[in-house]
Amino acid sequence: LDNGLMRTPPMGWLAWERYRCDIDCKYDPKNCISENLFIDMADRLFEDGWKELGYVYVNIDDCWSSMERDKDGRLQPDPNRFPGGIPRLARYLHDRGLKLGIYGDMGTHTCGGYPGTTLDKIEIDAQTFADWEVDMFKFDGCYSNALEQELGYPRMSKALNATGRPIGYSCSWPAYQGGLPPKVNYTKLGQICNLWRNYGDIQDSWSSVLSIADWFFENQDVLAPAAGPGRWNDPDMLVIGDFGLSLEQSRSQMALWAIMAAPLFMSNDLRTISGEARSILQNKMIISINQDPLGIQGRRILKEKSGIEVFWRPLSDNASALVFFSRRTDMPYRYKTSLTKLNYTTGSYKVTDVYTGQTDVLKDSTDFVVSVNPTGVVMWYVSAPGKLRYHPFIGRGKLR
Ligand code: GLA
Repeated sequence: LDNGLMRTPPMGWLAWERYRCDIDCKYDPKNCISENLFIDMADRLFEDGWKELGYVYVNIDDCWSSMERDKDGRLQPDPNRFPGGIPRLARYLHDRGLKLGIYGDMGTHTCGGYPGTTLDKIEIDAQTFADWEVDMFKFDGCYSNALEQELGYPRMSKALNATGRPIGYSCSWPAYQGGLPPKVNYTKLGQICNLWRNYGDIQDSWSSVLSIADWFFENQDVLAPAAGPGRWNDPDMLVIGDFGLSLEQSRSQMALWAIMAAPLFMSNDLRTISGEARSILQNKMIISINQDPLGIQGRRILKEKSGIEVFWRPLSDNASALVFFSRRTDMPYRYKTSLTKLNYTTGSYKVTDVYTGQTDVLKDSTDFVVSVNPTGVVMWYVSAPGKLRYHPFIGRGKLR
């Protein structure tokens, strides 16, 4: 969506995966969906170096509202859990250079059963969010049919725009249409939304992360051309720092999401996150790859019988990123290849391992070996000492 927002993938924190619809503030006051949770996360983003790296959105998901609209038909937050109302929370964030996201649903109810936004409520809800000084809006799609969605998602885009407040717009629409053409028209979607969920919800497990990555790369010929500044495919939240991923798997999620030019919304507990998880999420080189201004979504370029897969993303300044990923479950696999085999043209290249910081200069035709741990990655930033041309397979069919 060409509203001047999200020219690189948005980054921040989103409540859903980790905190779900926990509204038990009596017995779980630290984790329930309440203003305190968002204030706590805002404090962490502000004080622990996240904000400077670009993690600026603090996003409320489902279960924030009261079960009833107010007397004027406006959505209202649960008064016990958000006693200061949304404007006070927005102000708290804005005072710290952060942004607030909120959640709604095109339909009669949200997925969690809270009041939804039916077609007749779109304008009033958009205006309410703007009045509250909200900066981003996720529009889910439970409890509506295809026709209502077809009308509602573009209408909300117009309504948000008409408020005059810049509000990033996240659409769950394609996920409800199966994520693929002909039902999903990605050209149109890119004109309506800043980002969109194409696929099912992430869970705190490696199998979930892997199935999402597989779906996105299997459909890369459709999905990659849809992405660009202001319009992003959203494979869902980062679950790094939660319970389900090993260290290797955490590195893999970060690497693959960076290759995909995915929005980086963490759903974790920043108050107790481990140093290991933090260093992955705060890796500057990976973040800069994810945030590359060209905004070209990367692709899987090789799928080896050995279970090694290679991913590639072109970056500005004639640079690129490579990820070597192992689906193996035995031992570190020594993968032998050369840059020529990965479609790089003649020349020598400087490669930097983004996780270890080690650098090397490689000639295109020189064989090298990378050791990739089970379910892990090796990720390189490849820059060009000298002239560099890429084999132009962007937007074309499968490589091999
Ligand atoms: C859907 C969405 C999730 C989350 C929940 C909330 O499942 O895909 O991301 O917003 O609804 O109920």
